[in-house]
Amino acid sequence: MDGDKIRVLLSSEEIREKVRELAGVISRDYEGKDLLLVCILKGAVIFLCDLMRELKIPLEIDFMAVSSYGSSTVSSGIVRIIKDLDTSIENKDVLIVEDIIDSGLTLSYLRENLLSRNPRSLKIVTLLDKPERRKVSIEPDYCGFQIPDEFVVGYGLDFNEKYRNYPDVCVLLEFDS
Ligand code: IMP
Ligand code: MG
Repeated sequence: MDGDKIRVLLSSEEIREKVRELAGVISRDYEGKDLLLVCILKGAVIFLCDLMRELKIPLEIDFMAVSSYGSSTVSSGIVRIIKDLDTSIENKDVLIVEDIIDSGLTLSYLRENLLSRNPRSLKIVTLLDKPERRKVSIEPDYCGFQIPDEFVVGYGLDFNEKYRNYPDVCVLLEFDS
């Protein structure tokens, strides 16, 4: 890991500013609603923690963990729920909190799955979006940054479970696997 070369793509200051901006819009949109933030583990945890502290409205949080079958680099679209929500989302205004949308397969599955549980509304906020890589039609309702087709780590995002603690979002240039 020490020999890995990285380049900062989004600094922690830029991210903080963007998270504040997103929180402002979301606070206005969800005023008077029954907001439940559903954080997708593990990548979105840092984003969730920063975002929720900037939201000025009542809210609840819950967590889901999913994994896609197949190799880690090529998403198969078959998603397995590793950890489900603790509570019912019926009649809640659910906002999925995701780190990054890549092929869109994970979120596309999750959206259908959660919609079948009859929330009052269901929207998606993602910190990062790689629109070039999309395989299925899915767009976030709120997005921090659109980024090019490069593998990024930091601010919760990992490569082989490492780098999640880096405060900036960085591009991995060379890595030992
Ligand atoms: P999708 O189903 O292809 O949209 O995959 C989304 C998931 O893949 C994200 O929630 C991340 O966990 C992971 N992922 C996609 N791109 C990256 C990346 O550049 N760095 C780290 N993880 C990524
Ligand atoms: Mg993820």
